[in-house]
Amino acid sequence: MTNQKGAVLWFTGLSGSGKSTLSRLIETELRKRGCKVEVLDGDEVRENLSKGLGFSKEDRDTNIRRIGYVAKLLARNGVITITAAISPYKAVRDQVRTMCRNFIEVYAECSIEELTRRDVKGLYAKAISGEIKNFTGISDPYEAPENPEVLINSESQDEAQSLAQILGYLEQNGFIPATAGAKA
Ligand code: ADX
Repeated sequence: MTNQKGAVLWFTGLSGSGKSTLSRLIETELRKRGCKVEVLDGDEVRENLSKGLGFSKEDRDTNIRRIGYVAKLLARNGVITITAAISPYKAVRDQVRTMCRNFIEVYAECSIEELTRRDVKGLYAKAISGEIKNFTGISDPYEAPENPEVLINSESQDEAQSLAQILGYLEQNGFIPATAGAKA
């Protein structure tokens, strides 16, 4: 059992910006270090806790409040909880921030041009053609955080760099013990 502190690592960013991938990388690394960790992934939450919700502002806000509620419960029991939903609206992100102990907002930044080029799930093409309506960043708003605790960018950084940056933040702020040999 390590002397970790419960916290919420709250990813926000457009679809395809790397939230889920990085969440899983952090999860693996923290487990290796003996930390208690849970991931609440956007797509997975929508299959379970938020099944039936759509993508209107109201439904997205409900989704985020539910994720925030579970994250709060886990974090207060000492779990490092990683959430990976787009969470496009600032007001509800700020609401969740006030609910959760040790809320760390991680903004996964990436330009629409690059996301459209990658289009891993083929959703941007459909959003641009109008086949999918209200798609975040194309036909629905995304309100970027103004002062995220951590800012990563999947265009200018590789996964290893982003991972190191986030782990560094957790170590420097005493959420997880620093690894032997890590820079002071
Ligand atoms: S959130 O807005 O409520 O935070 P969430 O992260 O749960 O969104 O779900 C986003 C995922 O749903 C996207 O990665 C994408 O795969 C899928 N999706 C389907 N329709 C939309 C849409 N209209 N806008 C954004 N994502 C969509």
